[in-house]
Amino acid sequence: MIITVTLNTAIDKTYTVENFVLDRVHRPIDMKSTAGGKGINVARVLKELGRDAVAAGFIGGCNGDRIIEGLDREGIRHDFVRIAGESRICIAIVDPVKGAQTEINEIGPEALPGDLQTLASKLERMMPSAQYLVLSGNAPPGTPDDFYAHLIEIARRHDVKTALDTSGPHLRQGITAGPYIIKPNVAELSMLRGRELLTREEILHAAKGLVMAGTGVVIVSMGRAGCVATDGKRSWQATPPEIPFVSAVGSGDALVAAAIDALLAGSDIPEAIRAGTAAGAANAMTFGAGFCSKESIITLKDKVHVAEI
Ligand SMILES: Nc1ncnc2c1ncn2[C@@H]1O[C@H](COP(=O)(O)OP(=O)(O)OP(=O)(O)O)[C@@H](O)[C@H]1O
Ligand SMILES: [Mg+2]
Repeated sequence: MIITVTLNTAIDKTYTVENFVLDRVHRPIDMKSTAGGKGINVARVLKELGRDAVAAGFIGGCNGDRIIEGLDREGIRHDFVRIAGESRICIAIVDPVKGAQTEINEIGPEALPGDLQTLASKLERMMPSAQYLVLSGNAPPGTPDDFYAHLIEIARRHDVKTALDTSGPHLRQGITAGPYIIKPNVAELSMLRGRELLTREEILHAAKGLVMAGTGVVIVSMGRAGCVATDGKRSWQATPPEIPFVSAVGSGDALVAAAIDALLAGSDIPEAIRAGTAAGAANAMTFGAGFCSKESIITLKDKVHVAEI
């Protein structure tokens, strides 16, 4: 079983509006509503790849009920802690004419100390049957910066590998607990380093520094340029083919899911980032976060170029 944690779950609502402008009433030509949040996206792709994934984290209120209904419809297993507030709604307005996307993301309900403790205890109880603990996304108000670090320490006590995909203080603190995998994108890694990383050499140097500081494998995603990965001794770059682009929201989550799936199947790091890069590209060809098909991932895998760097 692979446990994914989403602290700030959401209903992701996507409206397709042609020629979207401010200060006008619009009628969407299409509307989609799905259970969202990064850990849920990871669980969605893992399930598509045939893995036993369980989405955990916080949900609240009527929106929380709808998230559960959505997960049940998709057949994604879940085990959430209920909190007092209302899970958030994140609205994306996609304009196919202008090729623009506007997002309005609610902050999300506060997680109280008791909620955090309940979740940590629940996850600890799940650890004996877990192979990976995946911690994705940012945390709701009230979450201490070291909460992911705390969960990583729990997983370590149970010999469960961890993947951390977050940003800002939660990434900074999480790293101190020595996760097995982290997957920042270039902006997140730059923020961590306190300066903009522009070249592949700068990115790789920063990634190696994080391995020295205790992370097992650092995978830095670079959008359409693919990703670089290092275990401190050897490093690789994976480059996706040109694809008919739709939206890259959730491509990082697809990368994390497919890389973990490959590692669990016994692949080495270069093969894992081949799979991850293919999944990220497959997601970028698809509307919504994490709705790429297993077939498209397999087809793209052969077209990903992997080289040691
Ligand atoms: N335009 C694109 N064409 C092909 N592949 C892409 C494209 N954009 C993203 N990808 C693939 O998806 C992977 C992850 O993308 P990206 O670096 O945008 O992640 P991210 O910023 O973490 O995204 P998110 O947090 O929304 O999931 C890339 O490494 C690449 O393999
Ligand atoms: Mg990301």
